[in-house]
Amino acid sequence: MIPMLFAALAFAVPVPRPVQSWVEMAPGGSVVRILTEAETCPVIRVDGRNRRAVLRAAPASLPQRSNKAHVDGPTGFASRVCELPLPRWARRASLGGRPLPLPRPRLDRIVLIGDTGCRIKAADDAAQDCNQPTAWPFAAIAARAARMRPDLVLHVGDYLYRENACPPDRQGCAGTPWGYGEAGWRADFLDPAAPLLNAAPWIMVRGNHEECARAGQGWWRLLDPHPLQPGADCAGAGDDMAGNHTDPYAVNLGQQAQVIVADLMQLASGKPGDPLVSAQFDRDMARIAMLSRGAKVSFATAHFPFNPVVWQDKPHTAVAIGAKPVTAYALPPLPHVRAMLAGHIHMFQLARFADRPTQVIAGFSGTLEDDAPAPAGLADIAGKPGAAALQALTTITGRFGFALIERHGQAWDMTVFAADGAVMRRFAI
Ligand SMILES: [Fe+2]
Repeated sequence: MIPMLFAALAFAVPVPRPVQSWVEMAPGGSVVRILTEAETCPVIRVDGRNRRAVLRAAPASLPQRSNKAHVDGPTGFASRVCELPLPRWARRASLGGRPLPLPRPRLDRIVLIGDTGCRIKAADDAAQDCNQPTAWPFAAIAARAARMRPDLVLHVGDYLYRENACPPDRQGCAGTPWGYGEAGWRADFLDPAAPLLNAAPWIMVRGNHEECARAGQGWWRLLDPHPLQPGADCAGAGDDMAGNHTDPYAVNLGQQAQVIVADLMQLASGKPGDPLVSAQFDRDMARIAMLSRGAKVSFATAHFPFNPVVWQDKPHTAVAIGAKPVTAYALPPLPHVRAMLAGHIHMFQLARFADRPTQVIAGFSGTLEDDAPAPAGLADIAGKPGAAALQALTTITGRFGFALIERHGQAWDMTVFAADGAVMRRFAI
């Protein structure tokens, strides 16, 4: 009788399951994050021992930040964010009996995606058809990339694009959640990304959509791999210089290879030429240069490309935000960096330079593509300013997709896939 009573009680009082869990690479190791509707943080089994995750962020209704997108959507987070930092040598972890994708000693297969959210922004009169998989294919891309069994996922930033309500005359996005709160984050990132979040640990790069005045509060609660600290959490505009920056850090890929990750969001929020922003940028570049001497192969990643992006048939300095030229900031040559991996421009581009690392732009994994005509190759831009520094150029516009970077012995290459899995290009890196 008593066992039956227990069984009935267990049935009547369901234990809330985590909404989502994932593993991120962090300075010195990794961190397990859990978004949960439960009252307490769950226990994670790590290498045979039970360890309770700790609370990172309690449910909260956050102050609305003002920006040029004029977002006035919900800013609340009803769920808890829990976390458990792990050293790089942790081997196995599970949550509720389900294995978590901890980083292996060697990370040889890296999925590269960027600029994934569904763009709804009234100020730009933009409303992508979020409900139609062909118009916003991020969920399909995440599922397809997950089936490739990557060791690591690198997202080069810009996760949250649903900044305004779907216009009433647009069926393609009717009913979608929006705003910088949990509902927006779940609809635009956590839900569609789920298969890929379950498949491998991630490097989360911060985009300008996650700067403090935009979705920065959610960025800090959910995705930034560093500890969440008052005064650097984008809660109030007075803290944005701190909230829009962390020091570049290296992620060890094993076998003398690494990815150096930078958060350059002070560039997104500061005025061009601001001496404080400029000095921080110089320090970040010096740190990237220093870190790059610590391995045989270094990739550097940030949301903004370090170098000019060839776009609209003229060199376009895409580290610029809007009209702000980023050439105002002095770019070092970074001779120990093999390639620079970025997003922000909604297309794919690989550029090889005479005097600096190869640059890959991978902002093509869901957000409305930039429809500007792109040069087919170097011949199209011969004689234009900046063209002489380019040695090779490949641009793909108007096609959603993702890339897979793979190590073969000492060599690295990259395959670029369309959203439907078709191979578009292959490159040696
Ligand atoms: Fe961006």
